[in-house]
Amino acid sequence: MKNGKLTCLLLATLVSAGCSDVVNEASNPLRIPTLIDSQQNQDIQITLSKGKHQFYPGIDSETMGFNGSYLGPVIRLHKGSTANISFNNQLGETTTVHGHGLHVSGDIDGGPQLAIADDETWKIAIPVQQQAGMSWYHPHFMGKTAQHVHAGLAGIYLIEDENSSSLDLPARYGVNDIPLVVQDRHFIDGKMAPYQVTHEQMMDGLREDTLVVNGTLSPYQSVPQGWVRLRLLNGSNARFYRFFFENDAPFYKIATEGGFLNEPVALTSLTMSPGERNEIMVDMSELDSLHFMAEFLAAEPSFLDWFNPVHSVLQLKVDTQLTAQGILPTKLNNIVPFTDEQKKTAKHRRFRLEMEGNDGEMAMDMGGHHNMFSINGESMRMDLINEQVTKGEYEIWTISAEMMPHPFHVHGVSFQILSHDGKPPAAADRGWKDTIVVNNEPSQVMMRFDHVATPTHPYMYHCHILEHEDGGMMGQFTVQ
Ligand code: C2O
Ligand code: CU
Ligand code: CU
Repeated sequence: MKNGKLTCLLLATLVSAGCSDVVNEASNPLRIPTLIDSQQNQDIQITLSKGKHQFYPGIDSETMGFNGSYLGPVIRLHKGSTANISFNNQLGETTTVHGHGLHVSGDIDGGPQLAIADDETWKIAIPVQQQAGMSWYHPHFMGKTAQHVHAGLAGIYLIEDENSSSLDLPARYGVNDIPLVVQDRHFIDGKMAPYQVTHEQMMDGLREDTLVVNGTLSPYQSVPQGWVRLRLLNGSNARFYRFFFENDAPFYKIATEGGFLNEPVALTSLTMSPGERNEIMVDMSELDSLHFMAEFLAAEPSFLDWFNPVHSVLQLKVDTQLTAQGILPTKLNNIVPFTDEQKKTAKHRRFRLEMEGNDGEMAMDMGGHHNMFSINGESMRMDLINEQVTKGEYEIWTISAEMMPHPFHVHGVSFQILSHDGKPPAAADRGWKDTIVVNNEPSQVMMRFDHVATPTHPYMYHCHILEHEDGGMMGQFTVQ
């Protein structure tokens, strides 16, 4: 019911017409990122540069991109093989390239210590050892992450394995298997507003008004008359979205960040925080058009949510010339929950995400907002290792946060949710994840770190509201 009402509100604002279930026709073909397969490319070359991107035709916005003006290629990785990637920095300033979701050691994780100076190349060999899933890459330079991601530096890694290739899922990239990087931006006279934040935007996280999908405004995508798989990344700085389809059409969630769920979970609504990935499938066999929609959530939930803006993310348009392919499997994966024995041996740690920093500790240097926020009373410091984890041992982390929902992310691992806001996780969240929305009520996650992160190249845990991350809501840990 709520979706219907929101759609009406949208229409009322857009065309000041009466309530109807039809949403406006989308006007631009969705941009599909170039696909680079690591098996066909022994040496993947990625150049980071400033660019001019046309969101509106004929109007250049100042942006940054990987091998282009905005965002980056989708890089396909294969479990059991090594991917060689060179990141060549031509931005004119220092950055890093983090592999968010990759199970790799700290020295190729791309955290704040792994700076790539201007005009330098960072070459990594990624030994792909994790199951099929969706990760992503983005800058992680101290105090600059929000600005660099906002300018356009983000791209997707798709990891495939024997399971994903034997499942008969929709698998034609850019036809019925579609990556969607969802972001919010603001435009002034057709130009993307450059990154700039007030104190209040630091607190709430930068939340803007216009939806940008793969760098496209108001996109549509032609699809075959059958199953369509959408690979969703919330690549926004701070915005949470509640996704749904027009008319509350049912869909199926098949994967979380770290891989497939055991079986598809039927949903009509899906909320995603920054940093999270989910894969969903929708059946287009009886339809000729369907809008995928997003409600823009405010920093703190309230009764005003009834007035949240709703926008079309993507219009799926059936083209009967395209051949349908793929099914919705009944069984997808074989995730084994952690046992009580494993839980008994686990090391416990607690994390509290706090909206105030440790005053005076750090000057307002670099980004200028370094010590606004903290975790367990400590703002992020490059020279401080906050936690030391033993490689191969089980860990249970209890996380809570102040004032608003915060997406807590851990490097180098996938975890399982033991409890979410004090309750057992929903069926759709019983998968491998690396980002979890935490509130005042504690949540628990469990994992085992299998890769090394030394004091020179530690891992991070942090809030994935990028303003909070840059503002110090981050900590470092080693795995040895
Ligand atoms: Cu997506 Cu530490 O980051
Ligand atoms: Cu990460
Ligand atoms: Cu936060």
